[in-house]
Amino acid sequence: MKICVVGSGYVGLVAAVCFAEMGHHVQCVDNDEARIKLLREGGVPIFEAHLPELLAKHRDRGVRFISGLGEAVAESEAIFIAVGTPQGDSGAADLSYVEAVVSQIARGIRDYKVVVEKSTVPVYTNDWIRRVLHRHGVDPLNFGVVSNPEFLREGTAISDFLHPDRIVVGANEERAADVLRRIYEPLTTGSYYARPDALPGSCSMQQPAPLLVTSAQTAELIKHASNAFLALKISFINAVSNLAEAVDADIEDIAAGMGLDTRIGPKFLHAGLGYGGSCFPKDVAAFHWVAQQRGVNFQLLREIRRINDTQREVFYNKVLAALWTLRGKRLAALGLAYKGGTDDVRESPALEIIRKLLKAGAQVTAYDPAAMERAQEVLPPGDSLRYAGYLYEAAANADAVLILTDWPQFAALDLVHLKQVMRFPIMIDGRNLYKPQTMIDHGFTYVSMGRPASYPAQQDKPRKVAC
Ligand code: UDX
Repeated sequence: MKICVVGSGYVGLVAAVCFAEMGHHVQCVDNDEARIKLLREGGVPIFEAHLPELLAKHRDRGVRFISGLGEAVAESEAIFIAVGTPQGDSGAADLSYVEAVVSQIARGIRDYKVVVEKSTVPVYTNDWIRRVLHRHGVDPLNFGVVSNPEFLREGTAISDFLHPDRIVVGANEERAADVLRRIYEPLTTGSYYARPDALPGSCSMQQPAPLLVTSAQTAELIKHASNAFLALKISFINAVSNLAEAVDADIEDIAAGMGLDTRIGPKFLHAGLGYGGSCFPKDVAAFHWVAQQRGVNFQLLREIRRINDTQREVFYNKVLAALWTLRGKRLAALGLAYKGGTDDVRESPALEIIRKLLKAGAQVTAYDPAAMERAQEVLPPGDSLRYAGYLYEAAANADAVLILTDWPQFAALDLVHLKQVMRFPIMIDGRNLYKPQTMIDHGFTYVSMGRPASYPAQQDKPRKVAC
């Protein structure tokens, strides 16, 4: 089928390349000329597993990158809108990019098209898109509007797209829903998974991807509710982790004990520095705004955010408790991205913590396997902040190592070597990547989240003092 994807950001680019992988002819449109030029010349603008291979496979074949919308709309059966919906001052999503794109799409519609909202948008955006198309004089018989939210995670986006837990199609008319059913057919019938060149993953010929058709408003709420629920799980386990610590219990064992209950499940129960990234913070705020607009009391969403913000504070206080004062202390910060597997630093707890440490007078040397460049754009190096060329350089002569991002590399450190290069063997682990006993065996003072701190020798153990 002929498809147009508007936006070549995370969602747009991944969707465009994956639709091509499914056998469709895709035109990916962006008004950022520099990005389109880069994509045309073979560049890969984001750090994402499998993206370079799929781009190499489909560029100029299944997917073309262009900057003008008009022709692409005229030639396509479906137009996916995947532009940014940043958070406005009130917490509401700013839909001005979506509206601008819809106005442009309107000009290119001559026969029946399905306009698909792929960006995360508040409920009733579907209705607004319909109204804008009407206002621009498009015949109502010539278009359908569908909500088809995307659930992909950064770092595993390609695999999430081609092996989805579910595909949600929110359509208020059958004709439009049918177009989406045909687009996703390779995944829902399993024909894609039978191909020898298919990307392996959780779906298969026997277990193809399920597709759920709902009303447009329902689909819009499914997306916000899913993200808010995952954020809730994270905040819940973080709150329990603080309680666990107060009574000398172990949050890792608690999460394991809870996760074995199949009604709860083990995923998204990792205590740490709280969630970051471009989705959860923005979407929880936008969902809360939607509830407020509709007069629904959903204070739980406010509490999710409060707990999340507190986690960074909790970690900072642990650094203080372990080092007493921070002025002039040399700290190795391992991790800058908001999670492992990505170079994205948007709303990264790591950056927020580093800023706070610098403010307190610490000397920070940071290292991240992928996010160094992006971090330096927002947090430039200076007298107190350096970026190390390799991991152990960051730790050289450090008073403490801080683990801020859950990169697999950080979970497999050479602890003997690490101890040798550090000034004092102190690790403060915001992601619980190590077992306390392992750290004791290697002679480290080890502080983590929701577990008692552990000390190699009795004399290093502080007495409990009342605050
Ligand atoms: C998320 C959703 O998972 C995805 O469905 C949606 O489309 C976009 O938002 P993403 O932001 O890429 O995806 O990352 P995710 O892996 O969900 O992690 C989000 C944040 O939560 C990260 O900061 C991560 O470190 C944190 N997290 C996740 C935890 O702190 N604990 C956990 O148990 C899981």
